[in-house]
Amino acid sequence: MRANPNFQKLPAGYLFPEIGRRVRGYAAAHPDAKVIRLGIGDVTEPLAPAIITAMHGAVDEMARRETFRGYGPEQGYDFLVEAIRAHDYQARGVEVAADEIFVSDGSKCDSGNLQELFAADAVIAVTDPVYPVYVDSNVMAGRTGAPGPDGRYPGLVYLPSTAQNDFCPSPPDRGADVMYLCSPNNPTGAVMTREHLTAWVAWARQHDALIVFDAAYEAYIQDDTLPRSIYEIAGARECAVEMRSFSKRAGFTGVRCGFLVVPKELRATGAGGERVSLNAMWSRRHTTKFNGASYVVQKGAAAVYTPDGLAQTGAQIAFYMENARILRAGLAKAGFAVYGGEHAPYIWLETPRGTTSWQFFDELLDRAHLVGTPGSGFGPSGEGYFRLSAFNSRANVEEAVARLGKVFG
Ligand code: MLT
Repeated sequence: MRANPNFQKLPAGYLFPEIGRRVRGYAAAHPDAKVIRLGIGDVTEPLAPAIITAMHGAVDEMARRETFRGYGPEQGYDFLVEAIRAHDYQARGVEVAADEIFVSDGSKCDSGNLQELFAADAVIAVTDPVYPVYVDSNVMAGRTGAPGPDGRYPGLVYLPSTAQNDFCPSPPDRGADVMYLCSPNNPTGAVMTREHLTAWVAWARQHDALIVFDAAYEAYIQDDTLPRSIYEIAGARECAVEMRSFSKRAGFTGVRCGFLVVPKELRATGAGGERVSLNAMWSRRHTTKFNGASYVVQKGAAAVYTPDGLAQTGAQIAFYMENARILRAGLAKAGFAVYGGEHAPYIWLETPRGTTSWQFFDELLDRAHLVGTPGSGFGPSGEGYFRLSAFNSRANVEEAVARLGKVFG
C-alpha cells in the first residue's frame, strides 16, 4: 500500500516521548543522579477517595449478572452528562443540552480527532507556542506543507504568543476556518480574560470560523471572575466547541476521561454551500468510531462532582497551585523571568543568557538534574522559553527550587 506522505513532514518523535527518551539516556549514563521530572504535565497525587469508592462500587456492579453492563451509550451515561451540565455549566449560568455533550477517553483524542470534521483544505490558525496535538493532527491530515527552516508549516496561520501580548494574541485581520484557543494555556500558563475571549468570539462570527476552545485546565483558574467556559461569552454557541478533561482536574491522566461540547447551533458550510450541523457530524463520527468511555471510569468521573469529590479534588488542585507558587518564587529569586503559574499548573520562563530551549534542557538536566520541556517543542515562538510543570511532590518541588538557586542563583 502507499503510506500517508504527510507523516514525513513531522519530526520523528512526538515531543514528550522524545523528552522521555533523552532523560532515560541521561539517567542510564548517570545512575547516581536523582532526576526530578517537571517535564510532561502528569499528575502525581493518587485518585481522590470519593473517586476510588465510586470506581470500586462500579467494579462490584460489573461482577454481578443483575448489574453488569456491556456497551454503554456512546455519548456517555446520563449520570455523568447530567452532573457535567449542572456543575460545569448551569452553576455558571450556562445552558448546555445533554445531547451537546460527548463523553470521551480524554481531550488529547478529542483534539486530535476533531479535525476530521474540517474540509481537507481548511485554513487552520493556532497560537504559537501551542499544544502540539492541534498542529500535528492537521499536518497528518495534509493541511500543511513540509516545515520551513523556521519550523513553521506553510498553510498554517501562526499567532505568536509573546511577553508583549501577555501570551494572549488578539484576533488577526484575516479570517481562517478554524482557530485553536487554550485557556488556561498549555504551555504558557496564561489565562484569557473575558474581553479577550469576547474579541475572539466576535472575530469567529465575523469570519464564519470555528473556535476549538480547550479548557482542560479550567479548574486551575484562581479568580472566579475569569471565564471558565467559552459559552460564558454571548454568541459562542454559534462559533465554538469546547474540550474539557478530568486528567488535570481530578488526576485522570492514567484513567482517561474527558468530554467535548458541540452546540446544536453550530453550522459549517458543506460542499454545495449548504449549512451543515457540526453536532450531527460529530455525533456520526463519535458513534461510528467510539464505543463510549468505560462504565467504571464514568462512575469515577461522576464522583468528582459529589460534595466529597469536589472538596478532595479541590484540595489536590490547591496543592499543585502551591507547588506552582513555590516554583515561581524560586525561579524569580534565581534571576529568571517567569510567567504563568497563577491560573495554571505550568510555569513559563525565559532561558538564561540567550541559550536555546534545547540547550537549556541539556544544561538543566546536566547541572541540576531537573527535567522540563523546551519551549521550542511547542512551536517556533517558544524558542528561548522553557516550561516547568507544578505536578510533583512538595519535597521534589522544594528540592528543585533549591537546586535552581544553587546552580543559577
Ligand atoms: C503536557 O504536558 O503538555 C500534557 O500533559 C500533555 C497532555 O495533556 O496530553
